[in-house]
Amino acid sequence: MRTETPIPIRLADYRPSDHLIDRVALDISLDAHATRVTATLSLRPNPAGRAGADLVLDGEDLTLLSFERDGVALAPDAYTVTDTALILRYPPAEPFTLTIRTQVDPSANTRLMGLYRSNGVYCTQCEADGFRRITYFLDRPDVMAVYTTRIEADREEAPVLLGNGNPIEAGDAGPGRHFAVWHDPHPKPAYLFALVGGRLDRLGGRFTTRDGREVDLGIFVEPGKAERAAYALDAVIRSMAWDETAFGRIYDLDVFNVVAVSDFNMGAMENKGLNIFNDRYVLASPETATDADYAAIEAIIAHEYFHNWSGNRVTCRDWFQLCLKEGLTVFRDQEFSSDMRSRAVHRIGEVRTLRARQFPEDTGPLAHPVRPQQYAEINNFYTATVYEKGAEIVRMLRTLLGPDVFARGMDRYFSECDGTAATVEDFLAAFAAVSGLDLTAFARWYERPGTPVVTVEGEHQAAAGTYTLRFRQDLPSALAQGLGRQPGQEADATPPLVIPVALGLVGPEGVLREAVSDRVHDGVFVLERASDTITFTGVPVAPVASLFRGFSAPVRVAAVATDADRLVLLAHDTDPFNRWQAAQDVAMARLVADARGVDRPMDNAGFVAALATFLDREALSDPAFAALVLTVPSEGDIANTLGQSIDPDAIHRARTDLRRSLGRGLFERLTRLREALADPAGSRFSPDAASAGRRALRNVALDLIAGADPQAGLALAAAQFDAATTMTDRLAALSALALIPGPTRESALSAFAERFAHEPLVLDKWFAIQATIPEADTLDRVRRLQAHPAFAMTNPNRVRSLVGSFSAGNPTQFNRADGAGYDFLAETVIALDPTNPQIAAKLLTGFGSWRMLEPGRQAKAAQSLAAIGARPGLSRDVSDIVGRMQN
Ligand code: PHE
Ligand code: ZN
Repeated sequence: MRTETPIPIRLADYRPSDHLIDRVALDISLDAHATRVTATLSLRPNPAGRAGADLVLDGEDLTLLSFERDGVALAPDAYTVTDTALILRYPPAEPFTLTIRTQVDPSANTRLMGLYRSNGVYCTQCEADGFRRITYFLDRPDVMAVYTTRIEADREEAPVLLGNGNPIEAGDAGPGRHFAVWHDPHPKPAYLFALVGGRLDRLGGRFTTRDGREVDLGIFVEPGKAERAAYALDAVIRSMAWDETAFGRIYDLDVFNVVAVSDFNMGAMENKGLNIFNDRYVLASPETATDADYAAIEAIIAHEYFHNWSGNRVTCRDWFQLCLKEGLTVFRDQEFSSDMRSRAVHRIGEVRTLRARQFPEDTGPLAHPVRPQQYAEINNFYTATVYEKGAEIVRMLRTLLGPDVFARGMDRYFSECDGTAATVEDFLAAFAAVSGLDLTAFARWYERPGTPVVTVEGEHQAAAGTYTLRFRQDLPSALAQGLGRQPGQEADATPPLVIPVALGLVGPEGVLREAVSDRVHDGVFVLERASDTITFTGVPVAPVASLFRGFSAPVRVAAVATDADRLVLLAHDTDPFNRWQAAQDVAMARLVADARGVDRPMDNAGFVAALATFLDREALSDPAFAALVLTVPSEGDIANTLGQSIDPDAIHRARTDLRRSLGRGLFERLTRLREALADPAGSRFSPDAASAGRRALRNVALDLIAGADPQAGLALAAAQFDAATTMTDRLAALSALALIPGPTRESALSAFAERFAHEPLVLDKWFAIQATIPEADTLDRVRRLQAHPAFAMTNPNRVRSLVGSFSAGNPTQFNRADGAGYDFLAETVIALDPTNPQIAAKLLTGFGSWRMLEPGRQAKAAQSLAAIGARPGLSRDVSDIVGRMQN
């Protein structure tokens, strides 16, 4: 049997539910193989729905034990049970109650959707449509109900029982059993339901809200690991305080719990009052977590907490509106992290992520609008486009309206939409109302796939002391970008986007503050037409334009600039983002030329001299920023810049050459910097941004030194590896060693594995480092590691760290010219699909940029994709991705 092409669900077909559910009483008796669920649902016809329509309750992998209406068992001919639904014909026109008893097997649930067991802990995951795997329900976000949940379990097996909302009762439930009842007063969609039962340690805390509510905080982790939850708890407290001051959002329950589980498909989940986390985003200690891990924990704790308002109090009408909660909440967590850390450094990090993950997606066969118009499988739309580009749209709105009007719009959105399931239109309406602006044109950002290209040309009129900037925007359609557009089909007709361009002019001595244009307000020009020209006066000298400061719009910029222009920006611009960008651009010009195989390599002397000056002036005052300036663009960045006919080996060589050249040019300085930045003896670890910045610069210096002189690098890295007191330093040393083949590397890898044999999250780093070694025998190594006792195909973190790192983080070996890397990924996807289709589909996106490759590799990738597509019985998740990929 060949897999049917899934039938897409369309935004245009949205209809309100024919029925509503006001109250849900759940009684769940946990058992490893036979968990019994009694759901009592208070239903009524929806006045906005179709009168007299059948009641179609969603259900999946459920055993129906009994079904009653208003306390009376229903005759078998009154309802129908299918693989995906329980259908009640001729439901009453008045409010009525259904009592449904079902049974599920949490131990057999390998998809990790619905109720499952992770390391013996019962937990749930319901977004987007997992609640239907617990009981029959109207499993759609616009059906919101008040839930009361009684959980019963074996006292030994599950001493901790957690639910949504507030705990209201607990006690004995017969021999060896106990129960707890949780009540959540806030109406919510089923995707926010959660429960946890298990043997867990608790790290407790308290928070007093601005309006005087005492909130009990609990972080629940594997026994013995409570100490490692301290940073997460601290992040919860800081998030709660920040949301009060920055957005005026106050917590609304008496408890807030976070539970860490080891088997989780995603990062974390914002269930009401009971966030469930992938444990890698909770557990941290200096010996086991890097600075990047600490920052990710802080960001994700904040993200899930912020969902309490942007997602839970105001939820989504349907899954097409996913960006309404995700884009907004990413924007909010980015703002939080920027306030907690260095705003400039954080912004650069955000943009690097966007370019590394969202730009390729937007350029390839999986491109989709931030608000998709249709989907076959919603789980495939938790994408960088929805999340990160979604956040950029919110940020552009703030840039366009200014911070004060934006804040009033946010307040209005939260108060108007509180308790509702809202749409992107509702969100924009709040900002239109407070600003008086028509945001129709701006709304196109939600509808258009593809990364716009803004072409800019500047011209100085010396005699007049003026400077003209000509702008043009083009939106390469997904078709044009990836799928071979017909010439002349270019969509000149597509209405333009509204693009905020934050900009300024910089001269050889610094920013030209006298330069003004009546088209630029508060440093922002709004490009609303397909092309436009603006003129600055007060420009006596030929300036350099600093464009898209702070990355004010998610576009690619095409502007002619010389090295000299860029080095002026690096030295003199006031915008740190563009100073960093300037250095990246100088590096990229070299990398691209080299990868394309130009005859004469570009001279790096001027670049090295500029970096040297920069380091002498600023390295010690802002090491985190300096580390970013010194970081050579990644192989992925280079590929994205080249755009087509990619040869990953040529890119790797180009990057290796530049690393070597910069390392040689700066060798003495880097060596001195490492010494100047060394930790004073006896100093204690702190994960704060300043300390992390010093470690970052030290380790970038190590990387460049090793790039210039592998023998020197080997010695320094081995010494650092042995002496390290933090995971950041130990892992940086190991990463440096990983690039230098030989016995030192292998013995360091063994020592690491031995030391952390009982730390699965640390072994993930060990898997990842080995999977990304750019050498011909890495694929064999990865295959060997699949048989390592610590590896398990059932655990998403293990799969991501070994297989995901290989496909997404090892461009030369995944894209081996012989196609063996593609075959390996295809095999893994096929092997994983029957047990965990979500993770299988995610892995498959490793092929996302295959159309950018040179023809030989493209052909190999096409073969592997076809092999997957030809498999019978593929999941909807995988067949959706493979189908779109081949389009
Ligand atoms: N909603 C989660 C978030 O905060 C992501 C998620 C989606 C988790 C689906 C689990 C399942 O981004
Ligand atoms: Zn989210």
